[in-house]
Amino acid sequence: MVLDIDAYLREFTFQEKRNLFNLGSNVGKTRVEKELINVVYINKYINEFWTSKQRQASQLHEIAYRACFKPQLPRFFMELLTNKKEVVYDPFLGRGTTAVEAGLMGRLVVANDVNPLSIILTRPRFHIPKINELAARLDKIYIDRSAKAEIDLSMFYHSQTEAEICSLKKYLKLKEEAGEEDYLDAWIRMVATNRLTGHSKGFFSVYTLPPNQAVSPESQRRINEKRNQKPDYRNTKELILRKSRQLTSGLSEMQTKDLKEIGDRAIFLNMDSRLTNGIPEEIVQLTVTSPPFLNIVQYAQDNWLRCWFNGIDANEVSNKITMAKTVKEWCDFVGEVFNELYRITKKGGWVAFEVGEIQNGKIDLDEYVVPLGLKAGFNCEGIIINEQDFTKTSNIWGIGNNKRGTNTNRIVLFQKCRMPSN
Ligand SMILES: C[S@@+](CC[C@H](N)C(=O)[O-])C[C@H]1O[C@@H](n2cnc3c(N)ncnc32)[C@H](O)[C@@H]1O
Repeated sequence: MVLDIDAYLREFTFQEKRNLFNLGSNVGKTRVEKELINVVYINKYINEFWTSKQRQASQLHEIAYRACFKPQLPRFFMELLTNKKEVVYDPFLGRGTTAVEAGLMGRLVVANDVNPLSIILTRPRFHIPKINELAARLDKIYIDRSAKAEIDLSMFYHSQTEAEICSLKKYLKLKEEAGEEDYLDAWIRMVATNRLTGHSKGFFSVYTLPPNQAVSPESQRRINEKRNQKPDYRNTKELILRKSRQLTSGLSEMQTKDLKEIGDRAIFLNMDSRLTNGIPEEIVQLTVTSPPFLNIVQYAQDNWLRCWFNGIDANEVSNKITMAKTVKEWCDFVGEVFNELYRITKKGGWVAFEVGEIQNGKIDLDEYVVPLGLKAGFNCEGIIINEQDFTKTSNIWGIGNNKRGTNTNRIVLFQKCRMPSN
């Protein structure tokens, strides 16, 4: 852990002092808020602090989810600001990047997301199965060759693949209802959920969008017509095993043991992050998180198949997910999240709050975040901007193109003072 973070950042970064005076519109801001903004000078540190190439992340992260960040991001802050066995939290867990990286680094884990799929996709990765045990369990699952879904899925799956998926779904439902779902079943649920649809032969479906964006049946029919394709048979059990081998490759026995120990002690919550009363006061050393941005992700549309497989009502979840329509609405929400973060953060603890580039950088959400954290009681250490050049290869609808661009993470870093300020 690096103690003097300010000195650390100054050593190798470009720094810009910035007066956040004309921050957005002053409409609706109280007098105190306006004054607060007027006196705030914030350091901005811009650099390529981490890259995906710099240190290969563990394969264990390879679960697709919309708007996830790279494991190198939470690792950077955990290395800087935490020691082993200290608590790391993510109130917007997503696919679990912060939690899994924390587990791999021997930090204790508290995690929350209002989306129940998030826990389904994260928790099993703390209880790594042996491949032969997994194979034996899969072998035991009865496949009813005549099983059919209650909805038409023929545009995605061969009839025999559909029968296998329905049989897996039924098996997992019965185990869950009987309270008998163990770590092997939970792992199978996670991997099957991840394999439902995708754009390669490693998935259960015919070619479609990446696994975190299920298209509608109508759109899939159009894709099939355009590509002149029909779903062919996919062996679901084999694909689950193949993906499991990939996820667990490179994990040492020690890491597997540590992950289990941390998983057993972890707190996983499925709540609104403004009200997480399952988390005791002042236990968190570091929060690394990235909130939902303005209303850019359509949850129910993206997740209907994953929800169907897990017996989750996608519309119900969609209503709970925060979809702020305006910056003001977003700030109101994030302000409440900061109050809750202040309650659970240890004195001297940190919050690294990541916001991406919104509307191609036209809205600097990072600058809006600063007064929200200050108002909750935190000190602001600065805004850390990680800029990384990349070459993007998009291959949607079979058309490849290479585009250069930058991938920018903007992280506002706060600390809770050891002594309360007057
Ligand atoms: C940008 S994603 C986080 C991605 C995560 N950093 C990762 O690497 O996977 C935002 C997450 O916030 C969750 N979310 C949205 N509204 C929420 C709320 N009010 N309370 C808790 N979680 C919420 C969404 O379900 C989504 O998983």
